[in-house]
Amino acid sequence: MFIVQRALVFVRGFLLSYGPMKIKKAFWNKEFSGGKWDFIDETSSDCVYAHLEKHAHGGDILDLGCGPGNTANELARDAYRSYIGVDISESAIAKGMKRTVEGGRANQNSFVCSDFLGYEPTKDFDVILFRESLYHVPHGKVLELLEKYSKHLKPTGVFVVRLYLGDFHTGKVKPRVKKKLDLIRYKYDVVESSQYDKPGVPIVLVFRPRVAKFVEAPQGNNQGSRQLDSAGVQA
Ligand SMILES: C[S@@+](CC[C@H](N)C(=O)[O-])C[C@H]1O[C@@H](n2cnc3c(N)ncnc32)[C@H](O)[C@@H]1O
Repeated sequence: MFIVQRALVFVRGFLLSYGPMKIKKAFWNKEFSGGKWDFIDETSSDCVYAHLEKHAHGGDILDLGCGPGNTANELARDAYRSYIGVDISESAIAKGMKRTVEGGRANQNSFVCSDFLGYEPTKDFDVILFRESLYHVPHGKVLELLEKYSKHLKPTGVFVVRLYLGDFHTGKVKPRVKKKLDLIRYKYDVVESSQYDKPGVPIVLVFRPRVAKFVEAPQGNNQGSRQLDSAGVQA
């Protein structure tokens, strides 16, 4: 029984990351409309909000994999000017919109139903958030996806990734999550990395693209200037 359960969890995870868009959409719609995710409807004490308030600078937020609009409706109103939530599930988006209208935030929040692997933003943001959604990006696509969205960060903008690093019951680190976080740390400038002592070991990583530095080659050396990334590695 345990083996069957593990196999089903694996197949679900595989399809939600690598499956065609139609399958991913159908899965998520079924889970949201069937009430499987109702337990995340109220998360106002989540650790991600302090980071968002700090980095949004009262500006613009893009939330990739926004689910039922928790961030849109629980983040302090004056912490941001505009919010766009993107999700593959119409059922999740419908919940987010309903809460937005009921909460009187229709002038601040908007939602788009799209696969974030293919979504093309039409403006730049102070914060681009992946809250509990980076699990569903195949490992081999993480850097490509971040590179694409990097082009839509304002000069002082940051990515915020919030994930559970550990197993909810045992706290044991999940290797696949750790591998994704290590990849980001290797390629991006980490601004904050906060791990919380709570079930599932929530972690919030705030980071931005590395800024290339130019250094003058020593006199007499004919190579001219070299371009280094901020880790000092020649580009
Ligand atoms: C665990 S839920 C997290 C929801 C929300 N961010 C939160 O923390 O409350 C993951 C969300 O990611 C969305 N999602 C997964 N893969 C996606 C994709 N490829 N494109 C857009 N949304 C996706 C799902 O529909 C789901 O709403």
